Amino acid sequence: MVLGFNWVGLVGVFYDFFMYFFGWLFLDGWREVLGERAEGCVLEVGVGTGLNLPFYRGVDGVVGVDSSLGMLGRGVDRCLDLDVGFDVSFLLMSVESLGFRDSCFDTVVSSFLLCNVDSGRGLGEIERVLRPGGRLLLLEHVRPENRFLDFLFRLVNPVSVWVLGDDLRGEPVKYLEERGFRIDCVKRFGGFLLFVECRVE
Ligand SMILES: C[S@@+](CC[C@H](N)C(=O)[O-])C[C@H]1O[C@@H](n2cnc3c(N)ncnc32)[C@H](O)[C@@H]1O
Repeated sequence: MVLGFNWVGLVGVFYDFFMYFFGWLFLDGWREVLGERAEGCVLEVGVGTGLNLPFYRGVDGVVGVDSSLGMLGRGVDRCLDLDVGFDVSFLLMSVESLGFRDSCFDTVVSSFLLCNVDSGRGLGEIERVLRPGGRLLLLEHVRPENRFLDFLFRLVNPVSVWVLGDDLRGEPVKYLEERGFRIDCVKRFGGFLLFVECRVE
């Protein structure tokens, strides 16, 4: 056994600290919409530190997958502190290679993940594990419509892509349409954020 400071766990602590302000400002309202729209057996991809967990209502259970142990560890701590009232499992797994059988989830939730991954492979896997008619609920940042904000995003994006692998000017609706998802609802908020509800047919 190696005793020492848990550096891996710090990733999640920093993330929560960073997101606290945005949550208070407007994000928690949209996390609530995600949670209310989710139903049945839910897969949350890129679950991170589990910031969506307090907002699920009446689901049968949630399986959260993420590729970072530090983020998942924080998610487990959050879950132990909350009494969510449904089963939650956390798995270290990439959205690009989901270890589940076909058509086994009613809802897939993804918040701020698609811009980090190969959207084609990730969406292909999501499509595979969703049952026919199952819903994908998405929160994502997109290219801002405001030209000044877009100019700032253009400046910052190369650093964001290089350091975090995070494309701030992604086009999630285009990726979803290319993949054949049926888009039921798209709502823009906060100038550069998007809520999308879509389904596989
Ligand atoms: C910006 S955070 C979003 C976390 C959480 N969904 C939220 O709304 O706060 C992106 C998360 O995606 C995870 N991630 C990145 N690439 C991934 C992949 N290929 N498969 C699964 N998770 C991934 C990261 O570890 C991180 O926890």
